[in-house]
Amino acid sequence: MCGIVGAIAERNVVEILLEGLRRLEYRGYDSAGVALLNNDGAYNRVRRTGKVQELASAINDQNGVGNVGIAHTRWATHGGVTENNAHPHVSKDRISVVHNGIIENYQDLRTELKAQGYSIDTDTDTETIAHTVHSLLPSTGSLLAAVQGSVKKFHGAYGTVVMDREDPSRLIVARSGSPLVIGLGIGENFIASDQMALLPVTRRFIYLEEGDVAEITRRSVTIYNAAGEQVERDVVESTVSHDAGDKGGYRHYMLKEIYEQPTVVRNALQGRLADNGVVAGIFGEGAEALLANVQHVQIIACGTSYHAGMTARYWLEQYANVSCNVEIASEFRYRKSVVHPNSLLVTISQSGETADTLAALRLAKELGYMSSLTVCNVESSSLVRESDMAFMTRAGAEIGVASTKAFTTQLTAFLMLTLALGEHNGMTGEDKQTIIDGLHTLPSKIEETLSLAKSIEDLAEEFSDKHHSLFLGRGEQYPIAMEGALKLKEISYIHAEAYASGELKHGPLALIDDEMPVIVVAPNNELLEKLKSNVEEVRARGGIMYVFADSNAQFSSDETMRVVAVPHCNDAIAPIVYTLPLQLLSYFVALIKGTDVDQPRNLAKSVTVE
Ligand code: M6R
Repeated sequence: MCGIVGAIAERNVVEILLEGLRRLEYRGYDSAGVALLNNDGAYNRVRRTGKVQELASAINDQNGVGNVGIAHTRWATHGGVTENNAHPHVSKDRISVVHNGIIENYQDLRTELKAQGYSIDTDTDTETIAHTVHSLLPSTGSLLAAVQGSVKKFHGAYGTVVMDREDPSRLIVARSGSPLVIGLGIGENFIASDQMALLPVTRRFIYLEEGDVAEITRRSVTIYNAAGEQVERDVVESTVSHDAGDKGGYRHYMLKEIYEQPTVVRNALQGRLADNGVVAGIFGEGAEALLANVQHVQIIACGTSYHAGMTARYWLEQYANVSCNVEIASEFRYRKSVVHPNSLLVTISQSGETADTLAALRLAKELGYMSSLTVCNVESSSLVRESDMAFMTRAGAEIGVASTKAFTTQLTAFLMLTLALGEHNGMTGEDKQTIIDGLHTLPSKIEETLSLAKSIEDLAEEFSDKHHSLFLGRGEQYPIAMEGALKLKEISYIHAEAYASGELKHGPLALIDDEMPVIVVAPNNELLEKLKSNVEEVRARGGIMYVFADSNAQFSSDETMRVVAVPHCNDAIAPIVYTLPLQLLSYFVALIKGTDVDQPRNLAKSVTVE
């Protein structure tokens, strides 16, 4: 949420900053800005509402150059989307600041700063960072000490980069609650909120830890921990592909990511699944012994990752005989909960930086869970670093705001966790074989299912003028219906709700008419006949249905029902397979509606603020 890039070099850093912003734009895209400083002291700040391209044109018009610079792409939290609220924010024409996160006590700080004679010119919390640093410069005597003094006054979350117009030889960065990475160059150094921004210029990174403040010059990086002690942090060589951020010939990242699913699911399984179960040690050193004692699983996540958790609950209880609760992180973190004996806490997150999930993990650590596992896609993320165990989903960079391949790889991971836990909890041989066989066929089933794209595209035409829709599923397909509804509302702006179809007659049936498309996921499982009864309830009330059904489920198209036959697959992997038509449906509806598929309005990838 929001993106930060900074650079200090001998060369002109404008293009490095702009390319970094382009690579981070999916994280926030309502406005963008840069502050540039030359070795000769020339300073230029340019900000624009809208996409990074608007900013790039403005800088180009002004022939902007700088040897040092900080840049930001914004997802508004405090203050509307205006040029004045765009970062960088400045104090007394001297201190420039970019910031991710929220300074929660900004109102108190404003009062204090006003009393000291600072005028507050924006609606943002970030402006208070700039003034606070400026106010401490005289008493502390250095920019580093002023930032160290300032962060003691902040409550909330920040990843921030501070530049002093009077000193082009250094940038100061600070991290608490919002990630920052330092990219190491030769005679030049860089900063970003995500390594992805810096892959064109370096592969060597230092990840700052909570509470760190660092001074970055062209030739040095000096890091201090929260106690003010100088510390060394590991230098990590990144293996992420430089092209990870390219669309690879597809019209949208989302479409590219949908079509990557056979490959990334194959990667997720690679070296982890044998013919007789999961390979020993895949959850990390010492995990075997720990998993053997797990009696309960508590899953915490948000959004799409929460839907993966809801699906996992069906599997863990049905196949592995392990009880499981699933909760939205923002709820879990603010209520008193009871910890079951021998309970494993599992967080799920694509980014590993979702603020609520991270806060829930930190809270859970105090509550007495036996251990924590994260199922995550970003190796360098806070969730991975702060969890006892991490299971990487290997989905590769996901840029589209609507999560697709992250979800199916999370589900793949949970089928493996189900096998691992089932091993110690009396899983039947038959269930075990169903999961193993299902996982072995999964990549090819996904490929087969993606070949339905053309018929789903045709179907999507009928949705583009609709304002509401209902998604139905039963059992482990209920969370898949929820995920389908989330995808549709997120990128097509059509109101979509999901129901467990047994709930229909308890209220939602009142909504049914021919203006409310009803989307049904119908694999050929033990609940099929029940689902068929629910379909008849909708038909009897004049509803129009779009049914994604197993090829053997004996649904046929007529004037009230459009049926798309989904390749037959075994029960264990059906939730993954049925996700695909729903992803394609939302994509094509959004395409027809002409929305911004990869960067839907009001949203951002990676929600790093509360
Ligand atoms: O990075 P995370 O998986 O923790 O993100 C959680 C949600 O913000 C995310 O899944 C969101 O719901 C997606 N935009 C849905 O497509």
